[in-house]
Amino acid sequence: AGLAVVAKSAGKLYFGSATDNPELSDAPYIAILSDTKEFNQITPGNSMKWDATEPSRGTFRFTNGDAIADLAKKNGQLLRGHTCSRHIVAPSLITTRDRSVDSWDVVNEPFNEDGTWRTSVFYNTIGPEYVAVALRAARAADPNAKLYVNDYNIDGTGAKSTAMVNLVKSLQAQGAPIDGVGIQGHLIVGQVPTTIQANIEQFAALGVEVAITELDIRMTLPATDALLQQQKRDYQTVIAACNAVPKCVGVTIWDYTDKYSWVPSVFDGQGAALPWDANLNKKPAYDGIVAGF
Ligand code: XIL
Repeated sequence: AGLAVVAKSAGKLYFGSATDNPELSDAPYIAILSDTKEFNQITPGNSMKWDATEPSRGTFRFTNGDAIADLAKKNGQLLRGHTCSRHIVAPSLITTRDRSVDSWDVVNEPFNEDGTWRTSVFYNTIGPEYVAVALRAARAADPNAKLYVNDYNIDGTGAKSTAMVNLVKSLQAQGAPIDGVGIQGHLIVGQVPTTIQANIEQFAALGVEVAITELDIRMTLPATDALLQQQKRDYQTVIAACNAVPKCVGVTIWDYTDKYSWVPSVFDGQGAALPWDANLNKKPAYDGIVAGF
């Protein structure tokens, strides 16, 4: 039926994929990405980040981000803005662009693994209040978008997830506009945390929505049948956890094909993290996602 069809039948808002500008000229790739039965939401993997939108101070370049936004509009897909703040804040991105964005990752990766604040330029100069400052600027620029704080390794319970809970509580106490927690979901085959659902529930209990924003489940290469079957189960586990919590509104995979995954370039010897292989054929993981909803 297609992943978005299945997700929507389960009551979710969307199933989506990240994409990036160099991929837009790959016609077979775009045909699947644009199939709204599979994906009714897309996220630009890189082209709305600050280094892309303001390559040098005062020089703005929105053409690449706009190309992804245009594709979403043309396809009738939701768009997730990613990210105003990769340890930084760039509200001008929101103010100057069109408003047809469903959600924004306003602040990305605020925490270290132990739950302490990551020392970014904004943390160092403004202090932890930078998160509220960024959210307020984003809300003023786009009153309709859902505003998220997004991080990795907050899939299961633990120190980093607790820090996120405490951040949301403190933002709410200050009246800062926080609508959602984004769980990136960069996971490893066979090592999916057992507490994912409990963790999503603890975020949802704060009254915010939750999304899995960048899901991929990598393995040490080469991919074997056994690993691909384990990956299928792992995808099912993650999807089922989101599915079980009504406030978990959707899932986005961090691109849909191994052809364009970021994993091999960053994690040495690892890859095959996505539900379509590099030849755009569906892997067992695809059926795992379907089974999870
Ligand atoms: C990654 C992109 O996929 C790569 O192409 C780029 O080189 C580095 O960034 N968490 C995030 C994303 O929030 O922005 C990152 O995307 C992956 C980890």
